[in-house]
Formats: sequence, C-alpha cells, structure tokens
Amino acid sequence: MSVEVIVLAAGKGTRMRSEDAKVLNKAAGRSLLDWVLVAARVLDPREVTVVVGHQAETVAATLATDVSSVIQNPQHGTGHAAAVGMGNLKDHTGTIVVIPGDMPLITGQALIDLVAHHRETGAVATVMTVDLGDPGGYGRIVRDDFGVRSIVEERDATPDQKMITEVNTSVYVFDGTLLGDALSAITPDNSQGEYYLTDVVEFFVGDGKTVSALSVPPEMGIGVNTHRQLAEVAGILRARINADLLDSGVWMLDPSRVYIDADVTVEPGAKIYPEVLLSGATSVGPGAVVGPNVQAENCEIGPGAVVKQAVMIEAVVGRDALVGPFAYLRPGAVLERGAKVGTYVEIKGSTVGAGSKVPHLSYVGNATIGEKTNIGAGTITVNYDGYAKYSTTIGDRVRIGSDTMLIAPVHVGDDAVTGAGSVITQDVPDGALGVSRDPQRNIDGYAEKRRKRAKRESD
Ligand code: UD1
Ligand code: CA
Repeated sequence: MSVEVIVLAAGKGTRMRSEDAKVLNKAAGRSLLDWVLVAARVLDPREVTVVVGHQAETVAATLATDVSSVIQNPQHGTGHAAAVGMGNLKDHTGTIVVIPGDMPLITGQALIDLVAHHRETGAVATVMTVDLGDPGGYGRIVRDDFGVRSIVEERDATPDQKMITEVNTSVYVFDGTLLGDALSAITPDNSQGEYYLTDVVEFFVGDGKTVSALSVPPEMGIGVNTHRQLAEVAGILRARINADLLDSGVWMLDPSRVYIDADVTVEPGAKIYPEVLLSGATSVGPGAVVGPNVQAENCEIGPGAVVKQAVMIEAVVGRDALVGPFAYLRPGAVLERGAKVGTYVEIKGSTVGAGSKVPHLSYVGNATIGEKTNIGAGTITVNYDGYAKYSTTIGDRVRIGSDTMLIAPVHVGDDAVTGAGSVITQDVPDGALGVSRDPQRNIDGYAEKRRKRAKRESD
C-alpha cells in the first residue's frame, strides 16, 4: 500500500531569535528539514509535500526535485497546515504520514515501525509518542482502555492531564480517505485560536474509530525550538555518525571530539584524532590518519595519507601524501601520490606531483610542480601583480633553492636547480642552474672597526 508524506514547516520558529527559517538551521551538515526528508524517503513514499510559510521561497528553494512544496499563508495552526498539505497531494487515498520539519532525530526505521503498527492495529490514526520526565510544553496523550482518547495541549490541559508523561511528537500516520473529513470538522476553539491537528483524534474517537499510539525512545521526539535544542540534536546526530563509523572499522581516539558531517565518507581502517572537522563531500581513504586539529571541507584525503594540523578547502590529498603540521590547502590544491606539504605552507590552485615536497614556509599558487621535485624552505611563487594571476611550471626532479622567488609566468625545466635566495624572472632550461644574486663581499675586520666607531661616538 502506498504512503504519502506531509512535512509541516511553515512555522516561524520565534524562539530561535533569528529571521532565518528555523528548518534551514544545520545540524551535522544537513538542514533540520533535510534530516526529516532523508528519514521520510526510507518509506519510499509516492509523494512528499512540504508545507512552507515563513520564508517560504527560501525554504522551497532548498528542496530536491522529488519533493514538492505548498505555501500555507497565513499559518492557522498544525491542523490547517495538514489540510493545506493534503490539498497539494495528487492522491490522498493511501496512508498519509505527517512529520514536523523540525525533528531531525526521527529515523526512517521509526517511521517504518509506525506505519507497520498503524496497519497491524487497524487504527485510523496512529500517533508517535515519547515518555518524558518533564513533559512541559508538549501535547499530552490521554488514553483509555480502547486506545488514545485525545491529545490535550499544555495550555488547555487540566492539572491531572498535565501529570501525564506520554506526549505527542507530532509524527502521525492517518488513513488518507478519512483525514480530509476530520480536518474539515475541527474548529479553532482553543486558547490559541488555531486549528490543532491533534483535535482530529477526538473527532475519530467520537466517530467510533480507533486511534493508536506507538512510543519511541525519547531522543527521537526532540523538536528544535531553541539554539540549545539545536546544539543538543547536532551532538546526538554526530554521535550517531561516529558510532556508525566506529562500527564500520574506523578508529577514533576520542569520538566525542570528532565532528563529521552527514555526507562525509570515511573508509574502514582510517584513524581520526581529536578536533577534526570534516564537512561537505569530504572523503577519507582507508589507512589515512587525520588530525589532531584538521578542518577539511569538500576534500579528498587518499588512502594512507597523513594530515595533521591543517585547514583544507576543496583540496585533493593523494595516496600516501603527507600534510602538515600547520598547512593550508586552498581550493584546487592537488597533492599527487606520496607528495608532501609541510609546516607553514600554503598551496592554492596548484598540483604538487608524485613524490615532490614543499616542506617548509612556502606559498605555492597557480603552479604545476612535476614529480620528485623539492621546493626549498621559504620559496614563493609570485603569482599576482595586483591585476592578474600568472602560472608557474616546475618540472620533474627540480631542486628549488631556499628562499627562491619565482616571478610568474615562469618555467623551471626538468632537473634544473635554482640558487638559494634567487629571484627567478626568466625560464630556467632543463638541467640548468638559475641563480640571480649579487656576489658576496666580505669586509675583513669589520667588527673591530665598528666597535671603534661606536666608542669614538660615545666619548
Ligand atoms: C505541536 C503539537 C503538540 C506536540 C508538539 C511536538 C499541535 C496543536 N500541537 O505543538 O501536541 O507535543 O507539536 O513538538 O499540533 N506548523 C505549520 N503551520 C502552522 C503551525 C505549525 O506548518 O500553522 C508547523 C511548524 O513549522 C512545526 C510543526 O508544525 O514544524 C509544529 O508546530 P509547533 O508550533 O512547533 O507546534 P507545538 O506548539 O510545538
Ligand atoms: Ca514544536
């Protein structure tokens, strides 16, 4: 039997104290809404519709093509939102799953279990509930011998009802053929003057139908209303990601200090040290060692590579390459197999060929370095004249002397050498030595002369 999903995401999220749409806040690399949609897709739904309202266009623009959106404006409550969502479904005669867009900890499996429970019990509506030590603020689940009788909002609850610890998560399964009538029957007759989706429960019960509930672990029910809750769910999502990686064979010295986003891949056999932040589409190959203190965004870290104390953005670190400690790889930095970028080195838009080394205190930008070449300490590719960027090409087996300034555009041929401290403004042919330094002069007895002069002046 088919499933349709309605995600409720029109609310303002006042308690975040930000004008940005609440559901677009990110936790572990995905927006809250995306986490919900990822879980919803596990149901293999025929249609997913997201009800948007506050910042509607911005939210709708983030949606993948398999999801449609509908605007609820003004927002007259969760019951009104569900009705607007239903209106957007091409077919609403199957099973309808409703999920709030701010509950990123909901899992696909929990949704599958809820739908299965709904079908087994033959209820017309099934509510996902959690049991909370402090149920304050949530809708309470009022049960009798036959199942759920009603859901009472905190504001409208009696003192006895407030003692109930089983609360509504706002995740529901409905029989689509009956939901429309129920939503038309509810009234905004409550303390907030809103149409409450929760009121359909009483409508169904009054109609002699059964409403069921399935209780799930409490963390599943955390809705994000505040930055405190955002940080809490992000921590739980990261812990889940790290637990899966540990189970798959990744080693971590201290998983509580490793920050890996949802779309990152880490292969079994990789080792991750503390204070590592991996984001975007970053991948880490088997046997790679990352950290401590590495921040990598959309980077590829190859098998066996070792990266320590580094900031890297859109960089590729090849197999067995070494990075750091204290390196900065900027977009377009490509380290081929076994290359090394060492301490206080910045690389941008450049390839460092297989086995080549840039070990200390260098800037390499818009350059191509061949294989087995060594770049001496303090070398700089002078790639920018204040107007345009120029390229530097360096061949294989080259030895660039320490403190060489390579004034681009310039080419240094295979097997060539540059003298330490040279300013290289012309191409260096294959096998040649390029040197541009004033010959050294030694002034004998200088120290003695200097001392005498100083003494004369002070007398
Ligand atoms: C709701 C439930 C409450 C439950 C709690 C769980 C109702 C009346 N109450 O309360 O029983 O315990 O969730 O977190 O349903 N939304 C819209 N349009 C609207 C109003 C809300 O799309 O007009 C969306 C919000 O963006 C949000 C979700 O519906 O994603 C829930 O709305 P919210 O205002 O947070 O409901 P709660 O007061 O938390
Ligand atoms: Ca809420």
